Amino acid sequence: MSYEQYVPYTPADSRYSKMPYRRCGRSGLKLPAISLGLWHNFGDITPFGTQQKILRTAFDNGITHFDLANNYGPPYGEAERNFGEHMRRDWHIWRDELVISTKAGYDMWKGPYGNDGSRKYLIASIDQSLKRMNLDYVDIFYHHRPDDGTPIEETMGALYDIVKSGKALYAGISNYNPDQARRAIRCMKDMGMHMLIHQPNYNMFNRSIEHGLTDVLEEEGVGIMAFGPLAGGRLTGRYLNDIPEDSRAIHDPRFLRASDINENLMKTVRALNTVAERRGQTLAQLALVWALRKPVVTSALIGASKPEQVIENVKALDNMNLSEEELKEIDAILANR
Ligand SMILES: NC(=O)c1ccc[n+]([C@@H]2O[C@H](COP(=O)([O-])OP(=O)(O)OC[C@H]3O[C@@H](n4cnc5c(N)ncnc54)[C@H](OP(=O)(O)O)[C@@H]3O)[C@@H](O)[C@H]2O)c1
Repeated sequence: MSYEQYVPYTPADSRYSKMPYRRCGRSGLKLPAISLGLWHNFGDITPFGTQQKILRTAFDNGITHFDLANNYGPPYGEAERNFGEHMRRDWHIWRDELVISTKAGYDMWKGPYGNDGSRKYLIASIDQSLKRMNLDYVDIFYHHRPDDGTPIEETMGALYDIVKSGKALYAGISNYNPDQARRAIRCMKDMGMHMLIHQPNYNMFNRSIEHGLTDVLEEEGVGIMAFGPLAGGRLTGRYLNDIPEDSRAIHDPRFLRASDINENLMKTVRALNTVAERRGQTLAQLALVWALRKPVVTSALIGASKPEQVIENVKALDNMNLSEEELKEIDAILANR
């Protein structure tokens, strides 16, 4: 990565005027209704200056939470390494106004100790992440996915010790199903620690958390960081007319391919877009309002390849009311796909 010359940054004075901050479950931590993830667009294929503009625009618009993971890139570790440079340049002064998270749980380095849910992996990984990011601590450390091969006491014990050692302030889990989540939360509770948050995928195309997980998390007082609320761009205006060269489906098709943008999908997207237009919103804005409609969802975790997308997405918060009729219409469109 080549770093451009530093242009000093002063955050907008108005940054706390637009964003609602929602309490994360039964905890003292409030998170912005929209958070920014660095999974895509912060590796070695995105210019450093573009990354900087996205981060600055986010913070200027009240997004106080940046989400990372050990293997975000490409290559693995690169998003954290780049974020470390952003931290050094822009963010160290504003550290106490930020909530920064990272995760471990997927493959990160070779051999038996760079994957899954062992204490060996998680403790080595948080140490590596802190070094890459130029941080003394992260606010939230997640186990990135469940690992039924490791006793839950071992994985949760590692999260507990990471928090107790001051390397993270809170613990979270991601991609756990309802039973796995309940066991993890109870295990933490038995050690005297509250699980802050769960990070599942949630959007109009993937409503699986509505079948049990939201109930568990509501009962246990655990907040939800809903990742991918725009379905990687499919629930936006990105593909309404064509598949742009600079879109994820062409530019970085690791998880969304041009062949996924088919006529069947677009029929649903166009119908949803009609609902959005009637509300005076874009489809991305409607998708965010929809994902945030239940209080158990603390924050919608978006990605962005351009600062303009961040601005458009935050404007969703100007009209967060969804009527019963609109919800029914959306359900009917989704049931038809
Ligand atoms: N825990 C997990 O296992 C897990 C898994 C995946 C993601 N995550 C987290 O969730 C974050 C978000 O994931 P995601 O990037 O897939 O989320 P997303 O918000 O569903 O999709 C983001 C993409 O949508 C497009 N977009 C965003 N706003 C737009 C707008 N206003 N108009 C048009 N297009 C717009 C952009 O695509 P273009 O690039 O085409 O412009 C952007 O890169 C990640 O960064 C990561 O932090 C967690």
